[in-house]
Amino acid sequence: MHDLLSKFDGFIAEHSGLLATGVRDPFGVVMERVLSPTRAIINGRDTMLVGTYNYMGMTFDPDVIAAGKQALEDYGAGSTGSRVLNGTFTPHLGVENALKEFYGTTSAIVFSTGYQANLGMVSTLAGKGDYIILDADSHASIYDGCKLSNAEVVRFRHNNVADLDKRLGRLPADAGKLVVLEGVYSMLGDIAPLQELVAVAKRHGAMVLVDEAHAMGFFGQHGRGVYEELGLEADVDFVVGTFSKSVGTVGGFAVSNHPKFEILRLLCNPYRFTASLPPAVAATAEASVRKLMVADEKRANLWAVSRALHGGLKAAGFQMATETPESAIIAVLLPDQISTVAMWHQLLEHGIYCNMSRPPATPAGIFLLRCSLSAAHTLDDVTEIVSRFVAARASLG
Ligand SMILES: Cc1ncc(COP(=O)(O)O)c(C=O)c1O
Repeated sequence: MHDLLSKFDGFIAEHSGLLATGVRDPFGVVMERVLSPTRAIINGRDTMLVGTYNYMGMTFDPDVIAAGKQALEDYGAGSTGSRVLNGTFTPHLGVENALKEFYGTTSAIVFSTGYQANLGMVSTLAGKGDYIILDADSHASIYDGCKLSNAEVVRFRHNNVADLDKRLGRLPADAGKLVVLEGVYSMLGDIAPLQELVAVAKRHGAMVLVDEAHAMGFFGQHGRGVYEELGLEADVDFVVGTFSKSVGTVGGFAVSNHPKFEILRLLCNPYRFTASLPPAVAATAEASVRKLMVADEKRANLWAVSRALHGGLKAAGFQMATETPESAIIAVLLPDQISTVAMWHQLLEHGIYCNMSRPPATPAGIFLLRCSLSAAHTLDDVTEIVSRFVAARASLG
């Protein structure tokens, strides 16, 4: 028998070699208890969370929890079915209506995860004979959507307007084209020059999908994302998002004003061939989305702490992934895996949890300690985070 797992031997050796240096496993962290959106017990210790996607701090919102509890009582633990058969419950329509109001669109379709939303949208919109043109740093769910589609796939250099223009220019003028972009890129926390990218896409007759997973809630007047902030609502054809970040639960969605959008429900495999979200999750998502419509204070605080953390770490001599704070993801660059994991481990010992990110999740072979902040953090928390980064570095010598 050929052992199909033997192809992972190199990876197994690398991972065990890393753990043999005495560090904790950065991919095996357990939250033993969660105290708030910003604190949890990890390894028996009260730890500040600086590596969640709980941007708007909604996970412990009392109205969100109450809505979930009520729906759990009313509808039970799960839907046991697809949205197109027995899996559509009143809370699924409730959250789709809330999304339509939040985004000001005529349609909203909810998927079971953000991953499935990208998988489904990209693979269903672009079929045989069409082209998908995507940023090289796109999320894995976008790449997997490309694999699932029968379309031709063309990559352009990250955030490079001229390269997008050049590659679109080589494609047949009358072919169907979908340009896929992200508002905020999740590894470095940098934002896309959407005005220029979308203008180029439109000039070449392409439709545009923007994944605003890391921007929902705090970019744009209504928190719709970078495309709203840059005044592109009339030009972006499809917006994809997730409930697993600013909304504080789990699930994914796509919204659009396209008059034929609703037909996707009957054609999109990652929507129709999987069970729908538990109704209690849909109810928590609806409550959260409605509260995010009036979250100006949270939004302002998230920006204040993000700017303060970027400024504080930079002043302390850390090499930042972006010159200025562009989003709530504040990433620190490190030279290699050993030093990144050692620092990550020391931070945990100092009561700070952030993300350790490495290729293939990161672009261009880089290693990162990725902080992501929440509206529930305070400026005092930021002072504490910076001083613990400095102390962790000192303890590594
Ligand atoms: C840009 C982007 N899109 C989509 C997703 C998938 O979202 P979900 O966690 O809801 O599956 C992520 C998750 O990290 C992401 O970063």
